[in-house]
Amino acid sequence: MSHWTVNDIPDLRGRVALVTGANRGLGLETTRALATHGAHVIMAVRDLNQGHRAEADIQQTVPDPSIELASLDKVDRNARKEYDRSAAARLWQVSEALTGVTYDALRQHSETR
Ligand SMILES: NC(=O)c1ccc[n+]([C@@H]2O[C@H](COP(=O)([O-])OP(=O)(O)OC[C@H]3O[C@@H](n4cnc5c(N)ncnc54)[C@H](OP(=O)(O)O)[C@@H]3O)[C@@H](O)[C@H]2O)c1
Repeated sequence: MSHWTVNDIPDLRGRVALVTGANRGLGLETTRALATHGAHVIMAVRDLNQGHRAEADIQQTVPDPSIELASLDKVDRNARKEYDRSAAARLWQVSEALTGVTYDALRQHSETR
């Protein structure tokens, strides 16, 4: 049985990957492998200066990579907001199923009062 290598990664064009700790070690190499195979890679890092160096490293070794640098703190904040939004939406789905009152109906009711 042959061993799997990064060369076995399929075409990832159209896919988006978020790699945390992308400035060094496994995160940097994961970014390189994914970008080599066409994924758009968001490189989330704690230190943007180190991130810029890692970004330059990828640009020098991968032809025409689709990468962007992001602050890990910002990614974390946005992920929490998105989670809160989806949690609120799920809560409304349950509430609607139980009470039959939709969010829109409730909002219209409160606007007409
Ligand atoms: N390398 C291997 O062969 C191997 C094998 C098996 C398991 N692992 C495990 O895989 C993980 C990564 O290994 P690695 O060799 O890539 O390590 P590494 O070169 O030390 O890289 C660690 C990455 O994680 C980030 N990081 C560290 N602490 C963090 C925290 N508290 N919050 C957010 N980001 C943090 C670092 O950011 P900064 O640069 O900002 O510090 C860096 O980007 C480790 O847990 C390691 O034990 C590694």
